[in-house]
Amino acid sequence: MYTQPTDRKELAATAERAPRTLTPEDAAFQQRIDADEFIEPRDWMPQAYCKTLVRQISQHAHSEIVGMLPEGNWITRAPTLKRKAILLAKVQDEGGHGLYLYAAAETLGVSRDEMIEALHSGKAKYSSIFNYPTLTWADIGCIGWLVDGAAIMNQIPLCRCSYGPYARAMIRVCKEESFHQRQGYDIMLALCRGTPEQKNLAQDALDRWWWPVVMMFGPSDKDSTHSAQSAAWKIKRVSNDDLRQKFIDATVPQADLLGLKIPDADLKWNARRGHYEFGAVDWEEFWRVVNGDGPLNRERLAARVKAYEDGRWVREAATAYAAKRGRGSFDPDAAKHGRDSFDPDVAKHGRDSFDPDAAKHRASEKVA
Ligand SMILES: [Fe+2]
Ligand SMILES: [Fe+2]
Repeated sequence: MYTQPTDRKELAATAERAPRTLTPEDAAFQQRIDADEFIEPRDWMPQAYCKTLVRQISQHAHSEIVGMLPEGNWITRAPTLKRKAILLAKVQDEGGHGLYLYAAAETLGVSRDEMIEALHSGKAKYSSIFNYPTLTWADIGCIGWLVDGAAIMNQIPLCRCSYGPYARAMIRVCKEESFHQRQGYDIMLALCRGTPEQKNLAQDALDRWWWPVVMMFGPSDKDSTHSAQSAAWKIKRVSNDDLRQKFIDATVPQADLLGLKIPDADLKWNARRGHYEFGAVDWEEFWRVVNGDGPLNRERLAARVKAYEDGRWVREAATAYAAKRGRGSFDPDAAKHGRDSFDPDVAKHGRDSFDPDAAKHRASEKVA
């Protein structure tokens, strides 16, 4: 998962930057959006649209790779060889999701280095859910079942998001999330069919994960400053509250099948509305975790920074190898100059219109 509206000030500022009087370009752009056309990297777009996407896609990418940490901790402790192999594949998938998403954000003119720097300095956010600890094996079941389940709810509408590279990345990501959700549910099913102690582990994990997962959809629509503009741009196609309701309606019967009790005394079926009613969300806890004071915020960020530093020699070796083969070293400055320096020729080739080889040649030409 993992787009989550978080920074209130930034969202409000973005909304303010949105044009109040439409220029002819703005009007033509909105017409394309209204006609359900995809916007591609070479197309004209309002600056605020580009900024909103960079923030959302990079935050989504960060969530994928920070999300590898709580589950990665359990790879060596998975109860069987089969569970270990499945979890390993799942965590690798999340790394892949991060890479597609960083690549999609790069098509908007932001460099990978800038995005990583924003994450490591604490400027960029990632989904609040990954700041909670994974205490037992049942937590791994709950993450797959609930966190990946919430991710699917959130990401399926993004397959029709107006920005082409983001929408296309989501199609594959959603297929993989579906496997993740099933593997999590399968862990829960095995525990719930096991000994009373195993079933207690499953219930305890559900008790701890339920509310943080309900918060994953972000603040209530009435408190979400950017929703209207994102909806008009077809970046966000379903509101936070509607997604949350959809998730709860789908998940309650799954908990019933497991014989587990959802920790919400106010949860009840409303036959007239055709939806479950549910209790009040503790938004104070949500903002506390988003703003850096959750159970494991510091540990997660420190683990990410350490992984980046530990991998430095690999990046340096790859750059040296590329230089030795006469392809020139990658020039991070060339990638930093933003949208204006985006070269449509470079964008014509390769996946989602971004060809790293073409970008490298261009960078070396510049150096020469
Ligand atoms: Fe993912
Ligand atoms: Fe996933």
